[in-house]
Amino acid sequence: MTTSPSRTLPRIALVGTGGTIAGAGTASNGLPSAAYQAAVVSASDLISHVPQLARLAELQVEQLLQIDSADFTDDKLLRLARQVAALCARDEVDGVVVTHGTDTMEESAYFLHLTVKSPKPVVLTGAMRPGTALAADGPANLLHAVAVASHPGSSGRGVLVVMNEEIHSARDVAKVHAMRLDAFASPHGPLGLVAEETPRWYRALTRPHTTQSEFDITAIDTLPLVGVVSSHGNMRQEIYEAWVALGARAIVHAGFGGGTVPAYLADYLSMLRARGVLLVRASRTGAGPVIRNANADDDAQGWVVTDDQNPPRARLLAALALAHHDSPEALQQVFWRY
Ligand code: SIN
Repeated sequence: MTTSPSRTLPRIALVGTGGTIAGAGTASNGLPSAAYQAAVVSASDLISHVPQLARLAELQVEQLLQIDSADFTDDKLLRLARQVAALCARDEVDGVVVTHGTDTMEESAYFLHLTVKSPKPVVLTGAMRPGTALAADGPANLLHAVAVASHPGSSGRGVLVVMNEEIHSARDVAKVHAMRLDAFASPHGPLGLVAEETPRWYRALTRPHTTQSEFDITAIDTLPLVGVVSSHGNMRQEIYEAWVALGARAIVHAGFGGGTVPAYLADYLSMLRARGVLLVRASRTGAGPVIRNANADDDAQGWVVTDDQNPPRARLLAALALAHHDSPEALQQVFWRY
């Protein structure tokens, strides 16, 4: 009897983009994790420090970027999405892991969730502490991300963020703490956990993503400009006006509570629509829906509400929608749907 050679391990493409997971160094006072430089360790070096990866997957590593995630711009985001889509399209790739800084991971994850048209698992991970810290979290996060990306049960769930043994949906997850290892949370809880290097699922997403998404980045070179203005006491209309002057197609108003617009700005914001700029009401609270026509007459104003999308993700969804649609009605339907 002859046996044909069989492939036993899933083939995972690992895309390095930088962040604290690729960070190193100590402060001059010797403290281990208060000061370090992000994005200095290559993705190949990262995997060489986690030998356990070899029993989970065959890894193909590429260094797409080496940046602090604060330096992500829309052009870098488009580049990342195009590269992840190209990797997913390859027969010899079963899933993709992206190592990424934690500060803007929720934005990149959501953008991939809306634009990568593949059911293959795409998982983002990072670290709250650099590899030189006493209790670095990067190695375990990387191992868990590869475990999730390698598992057949992870297909078709949209883009995932794996941090601190939790599996979050890119639709909902946000960084909610500046320092702790459990810095990532989703308002409705994680989709699942990683237990003994295996994903365990507890919920599924109801909103469309990846293969069901209507957004096609092959048809656009740049994203339409959308600004975000965060609410605080004593606001100034000149901040909105700066976005108008830059050519923004929409402005996300990250309002108090349920997206409230201060009375002293209402007349100014009412005029934006006539000037061709859409106002999108979001909440700065980080969770909960903005109710249409509650505390503002959205129908009369031609304003849009974000449902429960946080302001940074609302910016990305509005920009993708505005690449295809112009009207506030169409943009509102996009927010209800996604
Ligand atoms: C970054 O976002 O690139 C730096 C911070 C981090 O990764 O935790």
